[in-house]
Amino acid sequence: MKINLSSDVVNQLSLVGAAAIIILTVYVAGKYIKQMKTDTSTGELAEENWDGIGEYKNPVPTGWIASFLGTMIWALWYWFLGYPLNAFSQIGQYNEEVKAYNAEFEKKWQNPDHDTLMAMGEGVFLVQCAPCHGLDGTGIEGKAQGFDKWGSEKGVLETIQKGSKGLGYPMGEMPAGLLSGDDAKAVAKYVAGGMKGEKPAAFATCASCHGEDGKGLGGQAPDISAYGTPAFVIDVLNRGKQGFIGTMPKFNDGRLTEVQKKAVATYILSLREK
Ligand code: HEC
Ligand code: HEC
Repeated sequence: MKINLSSDVVNQLSLVGAAAIIILTVYVAGKYIKQMKTDTSTGELAEENWDGIGEYKNPVPTGWIASFLGTMIWALWYWFLGYPLNAFSQIGQYNEEVKAYNAEFEKKWQNPDHDTLMAMGEGVFLVQCAPCHGLDGTGIEGKAQGFDKWGSEKGVLETIQKGSKGLGYPMGEMPAGLLSGDDAKAVAKYVAGGMKGEKPAAFATCASCHGEDGKGLGGQAPDISAYGTPAFVIDVLNRGKQGFIGTMPKFNDGRLTEVQKKAVATYILSLREK
């Protein structure tokens, strides 16, 4: 790589500084060597002495003070204005390039159709999710959530039976076994169906935390009216989950773009047993 000295004021200042240090060193060393040849020490001795070694009461040399203060100012400038915080960095360049690339990617896939989402989602799934959820998405025998059930009526039933925890909602954990039998089944069907149609009476148990409309009382609990939709999966991806089976990391750190989240959500929801 060619270094362009004129493009960077810090490089220029460093060069000037280096030249100044060399010139000063040569000059001062020369001066003292010459002085050592001709001078005999003179001046008033200070009172203290250390085993007979005394010290002259000479003032601090102006040059020394100037360079001492100069170094301090330089150090402050360097830390707070110069290189470390405000200059070119490869990491910064990398981050900017990733951002620009992602913006272009998002623009290109602004309105992907279902097939595109499925293809993209499968790709993302195989790289990011399959290591824990298994190539077929069935959860590697209970090591992670199985997508054959999750997001469907059976998923809601399982949640009612076993409870749920780890998404980090203010309300905390959902207790196990709130309903059973036909009540549980009716509610599971209603929730998995997008909460359309007639509301089963037993849903009152759920409404105390999720709200009559299921939307989660303004962020206190998950919006279960969106259960089984990409929006719910995206919420999980952004939160991560420290659940009963294990821990799933958050995917909100820029690893996946918004389109990729939607794509992988569409893909895993397609794995549900019909
Ligand atoms: C005590 C409050 C409370 C009650 C009552 C409650 N829930 Fe929940 N529910 C929660 C909380 C909190 C979560 C998020 C738990 C987590 O972090 O995984 C949750 C999560 C869920 C989920 C998402 C599970 C997942 O896999 O992501 C579903 C579905 C759900 N509840 C359905 C219901 C149904 C149906 C009922 C009624 C039988 C119900 N809840 C009753 C608090 C409650
Ligand atoms: C490091 C392992 C790991 C990775 C990687 C991972 N998951 Fe998970 N995931 C888990 C575990 C473990 C659970 C079950 C948590 C629990 O309920 O105990 C889970 C649960 C889930 C759930 C159910 C959440 C709920 O509320 O019950 C969804 C949806 C999910 N994962 C989607 C994904 C997707 C999509 C990806 C890829 C982008 C992914 N996961 C990557 C480990 C992982």
